[in-house]
Amino acid sequence: MTQIQAFDMVLFGGTGDLVMRKLLPALYHQHQDGHLPEQGRILCLGRSQPDQAAYLTMAESAARQYLGDYFNGADWASFAARLVYLKLDAGDKTAYAALSERLNEYPEHVRVFYLATAPNLFAGICENLASVGLNKGGARVVLEKPLGHDLASSQAINAQVGKFFKESQIYRIDHYLGKEAVQNLLALRFSNTFFEPLWRREWISDVQITVTEQVGVEGRGDFYDKAGALRDMVQNHLVQLLTFIAMEPPASDNPDAVRDEKLKVLRALRRFGSQEVGQKTVRGQYKAGASAGKPAVGYLDEPGIAPDSRTETFVALKAEIDTWRWAGVPFYLRTGKRMQERLAEIVINFRQVPHSIFQLPSSTTSNRLVIRLQPDESVKMYLLAKQPGDQMKLKEVHLDLDFDEIFKTRRPDAYERLLTDVIRGRLTLFMRRDELDEAWRWVEPILDAWEQSDDAPKLYTAGTWGPAASSALLSRDGFCWHEEG
Ligand code: BG6
Repeated sequence: MTQIQAFDMVLFGGTGDLVMRKLLPALYHQHQDGHLPEQGRILCLGRSQPDQAAYLTMAESAARQYLGDYFNGADWASFAARLVYLKLDAGDKTAYAALSERLNEYPEHVRVFYLATAPNLFAGICENLASVGLNKGGARVVLEKPLGHDLASSQAINAQVGKFFKESQIYRIDHYLGKEAVQNLLALRFSNTFFEPLWRREWISDVQITVTEQVGVEGRGDFYDKAGALRDMVQNHLVQLLTFIAMEPPASDNPDAVRDEKLKVLRALRRFGSQEVGQKTVRGQYKAGASAGKPAVGYLDEPGIAPDSRTETFVALKAEIDTWRWAGVPFYLRTGKRMQERLAEIVINFRQVPHSIFQLPSSTTSNRLVIRLQPDESVKMYLLAKQPGDQMKLKEVHLDLDFDEIFKTRRPDAYERLLTDVIRGRLTLFMRRDELDEAWRWVEPILDAWEQSDDAPKLYTAGTWGPAASSALLSRDGFCWHEEG
C-alpha cells in the first residue's frame, strides 16, 4: 500500500451530522490502525461552536456514540491532537484569509477541501477558496451528494465548481463505491476467468439490485420530502452499482479507464418514454406499520412531511441496457425505506439448462450469484446438487464466500477508503462529471412522468417488502424477487 502523504483535510460543515457520524469516525479508525501519517491535520470549520475546546467536547461525545467499542481514550487523545477548529462562516469571503494562513503553515501538505454542506454553498465556497489561491496546485475538493435536484441544477453546480477547480481536482463522492463488497465485485469480475464468459445475455436471465432500509426518514423530513427515493438512492447508489455489474472490462484500473467504461453503460441505458414509466416503474410510500418489532408511523405523519405529500419512499423499476452484452436482460432495481429488512444485495440469475435429463426444482432459475453488501458481506453461488439417496433428486445448495469469516480483520467503513483515496489522489471510485450528467438524463423522464401523473404513490405497510406492484413488475416477465423465489 502506498504511504499516505502529509495532509490537511478541511471539513466544511465541521459541526454537522455527516462529519460527526461518518467522517471523524472514519478518520479516527484510520488513525487508530496507524494508517495516517504523523503530519496529518483535520481542520473542522463551523459556526455553532465558540472555540476549539467546545468543539472537542462535541466531537468526543459524538465519537463515543458512533465508535462504540472502538472508542479508546488514549487513541482519541492522540487523534484529537490532529483536530483544529476554526469558527468560520463559509459564505463570508473575508474569513478565508484566516484559513489560508493556517494552511500556509504547511505549504507542502496535500490539501483536501471536503464540502459536507448544503450544495447551494458549493459554488460560493469554491469561489472563496480561489480568491485566496487555495484552489492551486494539488488542492482537491470533495463534493457530497445531493449534487443537484435534476440535470440542470447538477450541471449548474458542476459548471460553477469547474470555474475554480479542474476536473482532476474534483472528487464527487458516492459512498456506495467505498463499500468493500462493491470493490469485491470488480475483483470477482476482473480477476477470475470463469465469470467473464458467462457474464452476458446468453447466460444471464435477469439482474436484481436491492437496497432496502428499515429506518424511515430519521429527522431528515424536510430534505427527503423534496428529494424522494429516486433522487436519494437510485440516481446515484443503485445506478453506480449497475454500472459496476454491466461495464465492459476496462484496460486498466486507471481512473479514466474505469470511468469511461461506466459512462458507456450509462449512455446505453434505455431512456423511458412517458408511456413506459407507468409500466416499468413502481413508486410507493409507506403507511403506518411496524419496523424491527416496534410500531412505525406512516410517512405522512413523519415530522417535516407535507400532509398531502406524493414523495416516494420506495422505487422499483426495470432498467434495460441496449448493448450486445445485455440486450434483453432486465436489470430490476429496488430501494425503499421502512422495509422488512436492511439489505443491500445484487442477484445475478443465470438461465436454466437448455435441456434437463432430471426433474428440476420448481424455482425459475437454479444458478444464481448473490453478492451481499449489507448487513453482512458475502458472495453465494447457488447451484443444484444431488440429494443423498437412491433417487436422482436435486436440491439447491450454495457455495458460500463469507468475507467476515475469511478475512477476520475489521471491515473498514466506506468513508475510510474514500477519504484516504482522496489524500492519495486516486479518482477511480469517484464519479466523473459526465457520468453524473448521464445518470440524471436517465432519471429525469421518470421524475417528469411521475410529476405529471394523476396517480399517487402506491401505499405499502411499514415493515414489508413494498407494494404488491413491485412483485407484479417482475412476474409479468416471468421472474420474481430473490426473497420470493
Ligand atoms: C444516503 C441516503 O445516501 O444513503 C440515505 O441519503 C440513506 O437516505 C443512506 O439512508 C444509506 O446508506 P447505507 O450506507 O446506510 O446503506
